Amino acid sequence: MAALQGKVAVVTGGASGIGRASALLFARNGAKVVVADMSEVAGAEVVREIEQAGGTAFMQTLDVRSDENCAALVAATLARFGQLDIAFNNAGIFAAPTLTEDQGLALWQRMLDVNLTGVFNCMVHELRVMKERGGSIINTASIAGIQGAYGAAAYSASKHGVIGLTRSAALEYGKYGVRINALCPGLIETPMTVGPDSGFNDKMINAGVKGSALRRQGRPEEMAEMVLWLASDKSSYANGGQFVVDGGTTA
Ligand SMILES: NC(=O)c1ccc[n+]([C@@H]2O[C@H](COP(=O)([O-])OP(=O)(O)OC[C@H]3O[C@@H](n4cnc5c(N)ncnc54)[C@H](O)[C@@H]3O)[C@@H](O)[C@H]2O)c1
Repeated sequence: MAALQGKVAVVTGGASGIGRASALLFARNGAKVVVADMSEVAGAEVVREIEQAGGTAFMQTLDVRSDENCAALVAATLARFGQLDIAFNNAGIFAAPTLTEDQGLALWQRMLDVNLTGVFNCMVHELRVMKERGGSIINTASIAGIQGAYGAAAYSASKHGVIGLTRSAALEYGKYGVRINALCPGLIETPMTVGPDSGFNDKMINAGVKGSALRRQGRPEEMAEMVLWLASDKSSYANGGQFVVDGGTTA
């Protein structure tokens, strides 16, 4: 039987990159999927891909900074699919590097609002449902959540925060059968790191590639495989962990 047969999963940031690859893999493994993203057009395209492959999905437009939007995500999931078993809280942003003194309060606030408060907002509503019959939550942190990131203090602080939130909630909700883990990707080839709007330049990519023992960037599909494992019952004793998938960068 497929690993996620009979399960319902929400994926924030599901329109692109790691979220998109995970939404597609979840659906291929039998889950009904809610693709949740700010980007409505790209999200609808992922839903179309899932449906064309014979899966079931719908798109929910949301801004994870909004508690109301996150409540509506969970409400819409229950209304359409009747249950919520898996939540991949993955939406996030990066910004062009600057020294800490030059990051500015606006950037600092935006990073924390999307990357950390966004995860918190989603979890609050997901946990209220999952407390009743268990579930698996995966929050996307980063290797920048377990070590410093030169030029990206706000980003790194937000990702360290995701890990603290993940570990604390894991302590609280394990007794309800809810497992909560953090994914810590290395440098992955997605619109966040590739292209003119990415915040990354060639120098940073080259340094990242050199820093990885495998001498390359990771692919979103390689993250999705870890996310699938964490979402499935195969990871039944994994809780409160940080799952580093970085080609050996932090080794
Ligand atoms: N790509 C990497 O190298 C890398 C490394 C470590 C961690 N990460 C993390 O992985 C996650 C996914 O990143 P990605 O590389 O797939 O990037 P991506 O830019 O391809 O995807 C991010 C998605 O999040 C959505 N999003 C952004 N802000 C949002 C908001 N406020 N509300 C709802 N949706 C929002 C975007 O529309 C986009 O679809 C992020 O949390 C990122 O920080 C990425």
